[in-house]
Parts: sequence; structure tokens; C-alpha cells
Amino acid sequence: MSLHSHHPNRHETIVESAFNTAFGAIPRHTLSRGSQNADAAQRFVQDELMLDGNARQNLATFVTTWMEPQASALIQASLEKNIIDKDEYPQSAEIERRCVNILANLWHAPEPTGEADAVGCSTTGSSEGAMLAGMALKWRWRARREAAGLDTSKPNLVMGANVQVCWEKFARYWDVEARLIPLDGATHLTAEQAAAACDENTIGVVAVLGSTFDGSYEPVRDIAAALDKLAAATGLDVPMHVDAASGGFVAPFLDQDLLWDFRLERVKSINASGHKYGLVYPGVGWVLWRSAEDLPKDLIFNVDYLGGSMPTFALNFSRPAAQVIAQYYTLVRYGFEGYQSIQQRSRDIAGTIAAGVGAMGPFTLLSRGDELPVLAFRLSEPGTWSVYDLSHELRSFGWIVPAYPMPEGMADVDVLRVVVRNGFTVDLAGMFLEDLGKSVRRLSGQEPERVAFHH
Ligand SMILES: Cc1ncc(COP(=O)(O)O)c(C=O)c1O
Repeated sequence: MSLHSHHPNRHETIVESAFNTAFGAIPRHTLSRGSQNADAAQRFVQDELMLDGNARQNLATFVTTWMEPQASALIQASLEKNIIDKDEYPQSAEIERRCVNILANLWHAPEPTGEADAVGCSTTGSSEGAMLAGMALKWRWRARREAAGLDTSKPNLVMGANVQVCWEKFARYWDVEARLIPLDGATHLTAEQAAAACDENTIGVVAVLGSTFDGSYEPVRDIAAALDKLAAATGLDVPMHVDAASGGFVAPFLDQDLLWDFRLERVKSINASGHKYGLVYPGVGWVLWRSAEDLPKDLIFNVDYLGGSMPTFALNFSRPAAQVIAQYYTLVRYGFEGYQSIQQRSRDIAGTIAAGVGAMGPFTLLSRGDELPVLAFRLSEPGTWSVYDLSHELRSFGWIVPAYPMPEGMADVDVLRVVVRNGFTVDLAGMFLEDLGKSVRRLSGQEPERVAFHH
């Protein structure tokens, strides 16, 4: 939920329908007394939403903005299903279980013994996955310390300053020191930095597969190796979590030789966003643990009042099943090869845009879209305009391209970031590069400010 500030005139302002005379004006911020006709109310809300942005030109978000109509039909047909109610909707629960097992297999989790399933669950997104995985790390660290009769009052979590805000949230909400390592020579955490920052109070190290800031992969294998060395030298045995919010659905298809997942013994849990490169509309993420012993039992609640007895580990209770069902649809629909070709296409298009940006002149690329299909670029030289001016200028063509400073350690570098997602085409990439060139020329005074309107 975004927090909205209190509106000063909330009792006075009214909203009315621009197009619909059957719709009576209503107060903006208080509940109206009477009812509206259903069609009129729907039309009114729909008209309000016309003012939202245009997803096709939104190069800011990682989140899926297009699914096949068949997926939309499945979502529509399962809107009333509540994923928590596994007794009423056992088949939705079964579908969630299949997804967890498919991901465990893609991420090379060790085979569970006997009939057991892989250990994991769906979430609302990667942030919830981060909270659950972070809690498991904290609980395990505390249990180890308590068993040894040691102090448990100062847990810390080691991560690069480039982590997504969900990790700072986790640390603040669950009273853990966020040990954010400033960038030093790389755009993300390095193995040496990670190992050097750990101490006896470190509950874990978070490595990001696909940094939000520039799409680069953190060196998960090297970080694991540095922590192995640390363990051999000092006895400090620090577990890792991989935040694969985006990379969890890219690397298994495009970078099969890259060691980032449960093939590394030190990786105890992984999260990913189904609603990013998992190709599902917003509202679904995944978190998996290496084995049952990595998820403390006392974090799991058994819910029996909906009928049956169901283990749950989640922050919210009720949650739509529709997105989980849509995730299963994409897994069934695309299979390995389908995902591979979609992600490769996005990566190719990101590479084309990176080449175009690089050739344009004033920019230096921080990433070229060859890990996540994401590129970030800066101005090579400070000049009369900034990346913020350029972001603003691109808006006049409809493109949403965020500009922001890099995290601590590189905070004097301001970048623009382009995220290429399923649905972005070579044609759109060409249009974007053309408009980027025009924007640069306008800002540099080489192109008329505004073109007059022709009748
Ligand atoms: C690396 C990383 N982790 C976590 C998140 C949070 O993901 P979600 O929006 O699914 O909660 C993001 C979102 O961009 C991300 O890029």
C-alpha cells in the first residue's frame, strides 16, 4: 500500500464522470451516501484509469506488463480463489506445489528424500520472499548461538549497498543490522568485501542475481568460495541467500554454466519474482530453501480452521491463487525452450539498445544487457544537462526511463536505466534509440526546442 497524505479539502472535493451523465458526482475522499448504477460506476473507474501510464513505453519496471489472453482468461476464471484455503482449493495448492518443485529442479536443489516435496512456497513477490528467507536465517543463527550460550542481541546481514530496498526493510522490521557494503570498484558486492564484513553475528550474506541498479549479476560463486575460505580459516560458517528476483528466471535458461544456485552448498535459500522475468502479472513471487533443515520448524504455522491441517509460512493469510495459477500456465505453456527464447530475445534487444547508446557519443555504459536484459548508462562528461534532464526529455516522447544516483560508494554517478521485458520489440528499440538521439540533440541545442503544430 502506498501511503497517501491527508487531503486538506477531502470533504469538499467531488469527482464526476467526464463522459457519463448517468453517474452522479461523488465526494473524492469520503464514502458517498447513495449507490451508483453498476455500469456507470465501472465506466467511471475505467475513465479515471485512462490517466495511468502506457506500459509499452515503460522502460522502468521489471514487472510483467503483458500476458497472453489465455493467461488472462485463467486469471479471470480463478479470481475468487484464495491460495491459503488449501482445503477448499486443493488443486490450486497442488499447482503451487508443482511450481515449487519445478523451480527447485531449475535451481538444482538437492533431491528431497522419499516422497517429500522441495521446500518452498509462493509469495506476493520477492519482498515477501526476502522477509521469509531473512527470518529463516535469523532464526537459524539465533538457535546456533543460544545452543552455544552466546549473545543473540546483535544480528547483522551482510549485503552490497546496491540491494533492493526490501532487504533494508527486512533488517529494520526484524531488528537486524543491515550491513550495507559501499560499492568499491564494481557496481555490486564483491567476494572479498562480503567475506571481510562477516563476523560471529552475521546471520547470512545476500548476493543479488541481477542488481536492480544496473542488471549486473553479483559473483555468487566467488562469494561462496570466499565464505568457504573464511569458514576454513576462522570457523565462521556463514550461510548465503541469493536474491534472484529477476535472475532466477533468466540465468537457468541463458546462463546454464553459471554457478549461482543450490549447486553451491553455501546457498541455503533463493527468492525470485514470478511477476518479473517469471512472466506473470504482478502479485507472485517464490522462495525456496535448500532443504527442510534450512527452514526452522517454528516459523511454520499449522492452520486447521479452514478444514484439514495445512502448514503455512507467509506474512499475509489470504492471497489470490490466480497469480500462482498464471505462473503454472506460463511454465506449462513455454517450457524450457519457450522461456529460453523469450529471455534471449529480451537480452538481444537490450544488447542492441546498449550498442546504440554506446555509439551515440555522450554516454558510458555501466552494463550492456548481457546479464539481465537491462542496461544502465551515465554521461561520460558533465555538461550543460544531466541524466535527469534527459529522463524528463524522453517523457515528451512517452518513454519512462528512470534516472537516479548509484548507491553508496558510487553515489556521485547518476545513471539512466532501461529494462527490456517480454513484449518489447526490435521496432520499439529502434524508435527508442531515435527518440533518445532527438532528446540529446534538443538538450544540446542542436534541434529546435519544439516543432510547431501543423494542421
Ligand atoms: C533484486 C531485487 N530484489 C527484490 C525486489 C523486490 O521485488 P518485488 O517487487 O517482487 O517485491 C526487486 C524489485 O525490483 C529486485 O530487483
